[in-house]
Amino acid sequence: MINNVGVVGAGLMGSEIALVFALAGKKVMLNDTSEESLARAKKNLEGILHRGVGRGFYEADQVESTLERIRTTTELHDYSDRDLVIEAVFEDEAVKAAVFATLDKVVPENCIIASNTSSISITGLSSHVNAQRRSRFIGTHFFSPVSRMKLVEVIPAMDTAPETITATMQVCKDAGKAPIEVKDVVGFAVNRILHALVIESMRLVEEGVATPEDIDAACKLGLGHPIGPFQLLDLTQNSLSLQVQEILHDAYGERFQPRPILKQMVQAGYNGKRAGRGWYKYDKEA
Ligand SMILES: NC(=O)c1ccc[n+]([C@@H]2O[C@H](COP(=O)([O-])OP(=O)(O)OC[C@H]3O[C@@H](n4cnc5c(N)ncnc54)[C@H](O)[C@@H]3O)[C@@H](O)[C@H]2O)c1
Repeated sequence: MINNVGVVGAGLMGSEIALVFALAGKKVMLNDTSEESLARAKKNLEGILHRGVGRGFYEADQVESTLERIRTTTELHDYSDRDLVIEAVFEDEAVKAAVFATLDKVVPENCIIASNTSSISITGLSSHVNAQRRSRFIGTHFFSPVSRMKLVEVIPAMDTAPETITATMQVCKDAGKAPIEVKDVVGFAVNRILHALVIESMRLVEEGVATPEDIDAACKLGLGHPIGPFQLLDLTQNSLSLQVQEILHDAYGERFQPRPILKQMVQAGYNGKRAGRGWYKYDKEA
């Protein structure tokens, strides 16, 4: 039974991963390199909880108790009593490798180590822990915003034990998520589905078949998607999509070749909502 959860990296993903496990009653420890990052993350989580109470997602009396269950530390050595540690640091194999090497020395023998990487091979990452630990190394790919998106792709590495898969699927369910098991291939499942749709949507725009607004309407009203591909691109940043498509292109060839229109948007700095302009124009304050 997994009770003590550690999260490494208190950014966009790690902080909300900590939140969903704390909401599920787990004792959570959140690590980052500076006290400032940790304070920022805690403040952000407080905001999410308060807004969530306003929207009826959480009960008012959950706020304090949930925040109390999330302890913060800049020291990975505090993770000696964790049952599961999820890594969500920068998408850089060298940074992740250093984290895994430390965790491997610190966490108990039975602890599961998971990575939230979106594009690095889970089997490749598992090579940064020792041979005995590899049976307890796995990928857990959460989706942003983690507090709202129910899916988790659970990705076994080459040597992951069946018990590790079962325990990881269960702890994700405990946290209110709907895990699916996916093979360790580039882009896992969701990014392949998404970018096939995105690239074809961009072709339609390039060919003048339909506007981004109309394609978003088509996906929402004709296919039942909650959000259109161009609205999603603006929320997640065009530069990130371009990076992901370059990785998919390397792995799968022509079918994932980024479209010229996406490259132009990135070159122009039209990166999406945060930039004030993407496929749509935004009020800078919005
Ligand atoms: N952003 C997304 O939508 C998304 C979705 C799925 C998966 N991911 C993956 O999740 C991971 C984190 O992404 P993010 O968007 O939260 O990034 P982010 O930049 O918001 O956060 C990363 C955090 O890691 C911290 N960090 C860096 N090195 C560290 C170290 N050695 N020890 C402890 N903390 C360290 C940083 O200070 C930062 O707070 C990446 O691997 C990314 O590919 C991101």
